[in-house]
Amino acid sequence: MSTRAHWDSAWQGADPEAKSWYQEEAGHSLEMIEASAIAHGEAVIDVGGGASVLVDTLLELGFQNLSVLDISRAALQSAKARLGSRANDVKWLCEDATRWTPAHPFRLWHDRAVFHFLTDAEDRQKYRTIAKANLVPGGHMIMATFAMDGPEKCSGLPVRRYSAQSMAAELGDGFALIEDSIEEHLTPGGRVQKFQYCRFLRV
Ligand SMILES: C[S@@+](CC[C@H](N)C(=O)[O-])C[C@H]1O[C@@H](n2cnc3c(N)ncnc32)[C@H](O)[C@@H]1O
Repeated sequence: MSTRAHWDSAWQGADPEAKSWYQEEAGHSLEMIEASAIAHGEAVIDVGGGASVLVDTLLELGFQNLSVLDISRAALQSAKARLGSRANDVKWLCEDATRWTPAHPFRLWHDRAVFHFLTDAEDRQKYRTIAKANLVPGGHMIMATFAMDGPEKCSGLPVRRYSAQSMAAELGDGFALIEDSIEEHLTPGGRVQKFQYCRFLRV
């Protein structure tokens, strides 16, 4: 099954609030976005945003140049339906994060629980190349993956787990690690999953 077919079937007709990665509030992400202190008019993207409510909060905070990218049209539909008319204030990009051409550069790049599915080195290289070319110097990149002692699989797919050090090594030159923290995410099913959050400055 292709990556797109996998995720469309995971999202089609599903209750987003029952998904293991569901958060009522994207608290850790918001703290790091706040710490990045970027202006509300700057371009922000949530890569693999799925049906996350992060975009709702960013709209409420006054961000005006928001993009949400996801490989699954069904995921984007779910987020758009939740937002109603506010969805018109967001750019929705149905793209594979390893194979797309951004229309403009970004000041803030956010990825929670997407990069860790890239088990193929070539896919990681492609993702990195796109991020590096399209995040402006002085911009911020927030990467949240399963931590070293987090789950080995998600949505039936294997993942790569990261520490702050291994994520810094993975991104390589051009990204300076500014802060990192662990989130103990409680799934709707009551399990704890450890996430590694890292914020990088594009240098
Ligand atoms: C585990 S969910 C996380 C969703 C969201 N970031 C959150 O924290 O709630 C992973 C998301 O990444 C999307 N995804 C997986 N592989 C992708 C890829 N190669 N390009 C873009 N999106 C992808 C899936 O459709 C899904 O919405």
